[in-house]
Amino acid sequence: MKIKETLINLRKFWIENDVPNITDENAKFLQSLISQNNFSNVLEIGTANGYSTICLASELQKNSGRITSIEFSILSHNQAIANIKEAWLEEICTLIHGQALDIIPTLPDNSFDFVFIDGMKRRSKDFLELSRPKIKKNWIIIIDDVIKFKHKMLSLYEYVEENKINHEIIQIDSDDGVMKIIKV
Ligand SMILES: C[S@@+](CC[C@H](N)C(=O)[O-])C[C@H]1O[C@@H](n2cnc3c(N)ncnc32)[C@H](O)[C@@H]1O
Repeated sequence: MKIKETLINLRKFWIENDVPNITDENAKFLQSLISQNNFSNVLEIGTANGYSTICLASELQKNSGRITSIEFSILSHNQAIANIKEAWLEEICTLIHGQALDIIPTLPDNSFDFVFIDGMKRRSKDFLELSRPKIKKNWIIIIDDVIKFKHKMLSLYEYVEENKINHEIIQIDSDDGVMKIIKV
């Protein structure tokens, strides 16, 4: 099965099983960031069943890019492997099973140009802090669900203020928005 069919099937599964995959608006937003900036090496924290990974990989394919995605639930990780295989994207997706807080420090420094943080909301600040040495010169970091779950992400808001990290909050759809951190 190819990308479009896989995403349609996963969307149906999402609606029936309440899987917290990104919305269509969010997928388009992330894809446009990749295409506008010609990003080619993406790190994702929180694969779930691979829906967002497939959305990002489908855009990265056009730039000969690739994505590394981390997930600590073995069930979700295995579902993502199967779904990415169905979408014929396994060659450009590296799926890592494990605790992102342990895995991120083992990834090479200065290697990613785009980081999408969509793991446990309370650990968003830790994911950001650990990801910062891993990004290249021109980069963007996106943190998902920062409006609806702001109460779980107070340490993130404090961290960006205290460290004077240039950021903006963007409402993506009626559901929620993202924090965009960009190098100036
Ligand atoms: C909101 S879901 C991700 C949805 C996915 N990005 C999508 O849109 O299709 C969050 C996922 O992050 C995983 N997760 C949360 N904290 C994590 C951690 N510390 N390390 C690895 N995975 C984590 C959860 O198991 C869950 O599957």
